[in-house]
Amino acid sequence: MSGQEVDKEEPARRTAFVTGGTGLLGNNLVRELLGRDYQVRALVRSPEKAARLLPATEELRLVEGDMDDVAGFAAALEGAEIVFHTAAYFRDSLTGGKHWPALKRINVEGTKALLEAAHAAGVPRFLHVSSIGTLEDFAPGGCAVTETMQRDPAVTKNDYYRSKVLADREVEKALAKWPDFWAAFILPGFMHGPGDAGPTAAAQTILDFANGDLPGAVDAHFSYVDARDVAFACVQAGEGAARGDRFLVAGKRMHLREELQLLEKITGKKAPARRIPTRLVAVLAGLNEIWSRLSGKPALISWSIYRTIRDEGPHARFDSARAQHYLGVTFRPLEETLADTVAWLKQAGMMS
Ligand SMILES: NC(=O)c1ccc[n+]([C@@H]2O[C@H](COP(=O)([O-])OP(=O)(O)OC[C@H]3O[C@@H](n4cnc5c(N)ncnc54)[C@H](OP(=O)(O)O)[C@@H]3O)[C@@H](O)[C@H]2O)c1
Repeated sequence: MSGQEVDKEEPARRTAFVTGGTGLLGNNLVRELLGRDYQVRALVRSPEKAARLLPATEELRLVEGDMDDVAGFAAALEGAEIVFHTAAYFRDSLTGGKHWPALKRINVEGTKALLEAAHAAGVPRFLHVSSIGTLEDFAPGGCAVTETMQRDPAVTKNDYYRSKVLADREVEKALAKWPDFWAAFILPGFMHGPGDAGPTAAAQTILDFANGDLPGAVDAHFSYVDARDVAFACVQAGEGAARGDRFLVAGKRMHLREELQLLEKITGKKAPARRIPTRLVAVLAGLNEIWSRLSGKPALISWSIYRTIRDEGPHARFDSARAQHYLGVTFRPLEETLADTVAWLKQAGMMS
């Protein structure tokens, strides 16, 4: 050392704006960002829910707002260096009935409005959370599906998936329009993990299992990924991905039966032995939809859940190699994810 004064000033913290701060991915992402010394502004619809889920620290500021009214919270984007857009009309779309107006408004028009507000506020970076549902179910010749194999929204029958494809298009349009704007995409698989307060279909399956409400195992595969691994991928991409880059973060393809066997090991409760043929799921979904319409209550097995099982169950194999190679993403074993999720559900009082 020369003896000169060493500049001891702390480097300025980066500021991130996270939508969907109380969601499964969102609250894990907020934690990941805080752990990496970001200052975080989290968009939440319910401050009470946020108080239960998010750490109390001065590095985190809650922004109350709704994707239905981006102008209502746009001022809070000022000064942020990156937006992580995780919010989506998602859980509700699996509860039976038709949801296209809300899907279009929140997922497509909301994303467009958020992009415009972020650009107008001078936020230079935008990490968009897309979905494996924006990709084809299977690749020719039995190859694994990669991030380039986007679905055609015109022929995408699943409304939620169509809304996610169209949301991606809004991000692509923004990239084409504004050369000074950076955006990249993370495409998660079927996420499980602690902090699933919604609950999404993932934690709902665990709760149904624990309550003995699962009549059997449907013949379906899913690409299981831990929300904490996806959160890591989001930050890595936000910091290091190229403009317009897309990363599949789909985890490991497993049969639902394997998840139930792991839950048996973790909870000590017996996994249902019965196999439920896909055709029976169609009948149950049809009956559930009618019951849900008459009772006004959510359908346990909705038509869109059946469609996902039917279309993806036998095919979908996703290749997350790019995210592993370029972002350094690793995938936790599903057993660890499920054990942590069960512990979290118990501690949150959602499971006994
Ligand atoms: N879970 C999966 O398996 C999966 C797979 C692929 C892609 N994705 C995508 O990953 C992202 C995160 O999903 P997730 O699993 O974390 O689901 P989630 O737990 O349901 O989180 C969705 C978040 O969006 C918020 N949100 C919904 N409507 C909103 C609105 N009108 N205004 C403001 N916020 C709103 C929710 O707020 P509340 O907390 O107030 O409800 C919640 O925080 C979504 O973009 C989803 O499409 C999920």
